[in-house]
Amino acid sequence: MTDKENEVWAQLRLIIDPDQQEDIVELGYVSHLKVTGSKVYYHLHLPDVNAKVKEQYQFFSEESVRELPWVEKVTTIIAASPKQSSLAPSYNGLKDVSHIVAVASCKGGVGKSTVAVNLAYSLALSGFRVGIFDADVYGPSLPTMVHIEDRQVKFEGALILPFEHAGVSLMSFGFAKDPAQEDDAAIMRGPIVSQVINQLLTGTKWGELDYLIIDMPPGTGDVQLTLTQMVPIVASVLVTTPQQLSYVDVVKGIQMFDKVKVPTVAVVQNMSFFVGDDGKTYYPFGQGALKKLEREYGFKHTVEMPILASVSEAGDTGVPLVIRHPSSAAAKNFLELANFVVSEVARLREVHTDVPAISTVPGKGVVLEYVDRDPVVLEHWELRVACQCAHCVNEMTGVRVLDPARVPKDVEVLTLRAIGNYAVGINWSDGHSSIYPYGFLKEMIR
Ligand SMILES: Nc1ncnc2c1ncn2[C@@H]1O[C@H](COP(=O)(O)OP(=O)(O)OP(=O)(O)O)[C@@H](O)[C@H]1O
Ligand SMILES: [Mg+2]
Repeated sequence: MTDKENEVWAQLRLIIDPDQQEDIVELGYVSHLKVTGSKVYYHLHLPDVNAKVKEQYQFFSEESVRELPWVEKVTTIIAASPKQSSLAPSYNGLKDVSHIVAVASCKGGVGKSTVAVNLAYSLALSGFRVGIFDADVYGPSLPTMVHIEDRQVKFEGALILPFEHAGVSLMSFGFAKDPAQEDDAAIMRGPIVSQVINQLLTGTKWGELDYLIIDMPPGTGDVQLTLTQMVPIVASVLVTTPQQLSYVDVVKGIQMFDKVKVPTVAVVQNMSFFVGDDGKTYYPFGQGALKKLEREYGFKHTVEMPILASVSEAGDTGVPLVIRHPSSAAAKNFLELANFVVSEVARLREVHTDVPAISTVPGKGVVLEYVDRDPVVLEHWELRVACQCAHCVNEMTGVRVLDPARVPKDVEVLTLRAIGNYAVGINWSDGHSSIYPYGFLKEMIR
């Protein structure tokens, strides 16, 4: 985080929600903060309050940021309300974590934990501050994969302190539970599991981290979906093996993350091949479906990991492979994966410069304010007739079927709402509803 960003966060912390007696940063109302020169941009996710109150939050937060001498322009987007879970109370242990990345797989035993741990340590080797959260209640593997000296559970206030190995912060149910106690995880039902995961994840004092890697429980069911909704995951990495059905599995994984608008940035096909004594490469399970994924989903990054004794040995010794054999070919693959995740996460942040602040001026038009350019006005009528919905444009031919002459010249915006980070939805005075992807708006004003 830059100094300027820190200063802005501090100013935003001065705005208190009177009902909750907490500041808006602590409450998770602010996201996507970006500072470009003297311009500040952020989203406000406000609870279900009326428009007047929302305006007040916007006004006071902008005023507060403007108090910084170097700030010339503040752009706020009132986004959808924060994701809320009625499942369990959340603590604020994640508040200084910059990026949460999930490592997931549809099936168990494919090497998800191996990838999560080695990805995390590769990021740490690159100089980032990193944590690993093992979200598997039933079969936590972090305690076997990473050895920790001091297993004493310590607290700071209500929060539990993470464990540590080679500079990486660690938390797992395997560390938190008393080893002498009966394992009662097996009889826990879905909602309880989600609640327990949420408590340990948000109840751990992670401190300032650049990346927190979550080793997700295997599968794409409710527990996994709930976890992706509870915390702001920035990207996911899917792990699979090259068997026939793995393509279907990966697609299931991508779809689960898509539901909650988390982009899958890389697919790791683990245990893909081995190099025999004769020096030849063998693919015992066939060559999988990575190419098809690259083509159909536009994946830029898929990684094939070999079957290697050193991978499983490192898993059993409690020292991750990338630390134990840093110059091995497998370690290089993991480092490459880490570099890719870093660049994709940075790219995902960049995309937000394409998200304008949008407002409407009656009788005039819709005003789009981007961080990096002057405000642009699109006339209401012009925007209305540009609607891309299936009623206005023939889906098959792409030919416009809406007759512009039938749209009243004085058409106005009734309501505007942000749809994720992707689009804005508009209800028009002629009774029509439109959705405009931000990319489309950017094209329109070019
Ligand atoms: N590329 C590899 N080469 C050899 N062994 C591997 C490789 N990847 C993982 N393994 C081994 O396979 C086993 C399963 O790996 P891991 O525990 O990482 O899988 P998982 O998907 O997390 O499993 P679970 O569903 O139980 O959490 C481990 O013993 C691990 O050491
Ligand atoms: Mg595992």
